[in-house]
Amino acid sequence: MKIGIINGPNLNLLGKREKDIYGDQSFDTYLTKLKADFPSVTFQYFQSNVEGELVNCLQDWNGKVDGIILNAAAYTHTSVAIHDAIKAISTQVIEVHISQPLAREEFRHQSIIAAACKGSIAGFGLLSYELALEAFLKGLSKP
Ligand code: DQA
Repeated sequence: MKIGIINGPNLNLLGKREKDIYGDQSFDTYLTKLKADFPSVTFQYFQSNVEGELVNCLQDWNGKVDGIILNAAAYTHTSVAIHDAIKAISTQVIEVHISQPLAREEFRHQSIIAAACKGSIAGFGLLSYELALEAFLKGLSKP
């Protein structure tokens, strides 16, 4: 199984950024562990701080991976373009968040992308990514 992970803005700073909220592990370190724990899965990883690059990546990976795990970060709350890109592709997308946006500032309470995704997982730290992966592995993402 081939799984794509897409991280949005500022997630390149994981491990350095607001550690009380996002923890002290870099995504590279986490991804290395994820690959070791799931040797049967082939991972593709993309991170960008640029909205259009996230849209391009969703379009590029459409049909080339079996599922996409997306943390759109701040664009979760603002991006109609990412919502539309998820709707436009046939590969299923699971929304993830490290923190629980609903327990934070009000501007984080709305996810513009959630309705376009198969499901959403939030609040489990980096484990959120693994839980999304488990959903794909268990076939929960099948229509
Ligand atoms: C986040 C939550 C967003 O509200 C925030 O803008 C992020 C990270 C999370 O993973 O908890 O950058 O997506």
